[in-house]
Amino acid sequence: MNQTPVIVVHGGAWKIPEEEHEPHMEGCRQAAIAGWEVLRSGGSALDAVETAVCLLEDDPTFDAGRGSCLNAVGEVEMDAIIMDGRTLRLGAVAAIRRVRHPVSLARLVMEVGLHNFLVGPGAEEFARQHGMALVSPEELVVERERVRWEAWRAGEGLYAAELFRPAGTVGAVALDREGNLAAATSTGGKPGKWPGRVGDSPLVGCGAYADNRSAAASATGDGEALMRILATGAVCARVAEGRSPQEAAEGILALLAERTGGCGGLIVLDPRGRYGIAHTTPHMAWAVVAADGHVRAGIRAG
Ligand code: GLY
Repeated sequence: MNQTPVIVVHGGAWKIPEEEHEPHMEGCRQAAIAGWEVLRSGGSALDAVETAVCLLEDDPTFDAGRGSCLNAVGEVEMDAIIMDGRTLRLGAVAAIRRVRHPVSLARLVMEVGLHNFLVGPGAEEFARQHGMALVSPEELVVERERVRWEAWRAGEGLYAAELFRPAGTVGAVALDREGNLAAATSTGGKPGKWPGRVGDSPLVGCGAYADNRSAAASATGDGEALMRILATGAVCARVAEGRSPQEAAEGILALLAERTGGCGGLIVLDPRGRYGIAHTTPHMAWAVVAADGHVRAGIRAG
């Protein structure tokens, strides 16, 4: 098989402040290029989505890895998932605090293969026992989020109204030369969330899904709403029924609004390399490297 590779990434769907547009687009562009390089040199879709999401986790612009928002007690707690569309194998982690790259721990869980989903201290101990370095939770906290959290705690309501972020979650979907699809999603979740709260991102069929027979998808936005309609499983099912990835993404976001009142964003990629990018939030940061190797990035779908 010599499929032309494609990668699509997103950096969250919310009301992104004007001054943050460029860093969001640039972060997505760099992540897409890094994932594309993996695909171009014959690497797998799984390697490409992990590489892209690791870059986004390292970039403090995004609500994932270092730069994650803080929960109600001022701590970072992160969730992530990765899924292989060829085998339907997956790995997921939730409520972890001491891992620099949650998506790589999710990949490790998948590769070891004993379980699909590990949470909290058990997930961190699994990382440690399998040779993954643990970091101090403080290393993942950035000044921007500390300031926002302090203001919120002081009752300034910064996490509500216009600064409320359904989540600046990150994600990637890729198609490799062998025709295999993969998806990954990683997040710090919602600002001010209850400790132990888990959103849609690490839940299979909610935050991400990949199946070579339908599509690969990653979601961002209001996790409490997205999980109620199994957003990424549902969007892949619509592609399997014959809809284009763009039609399917728009249809599922319309369903999300109709059934839950929630908003969010989706990236979707099918085995032919057709992709969809849609959001019902004011903005969603995204980037694509498609068939011709040309990189496109934006802050609104289109
Ligand atoms: N969509 C990410 C979250 O709600 O945690």
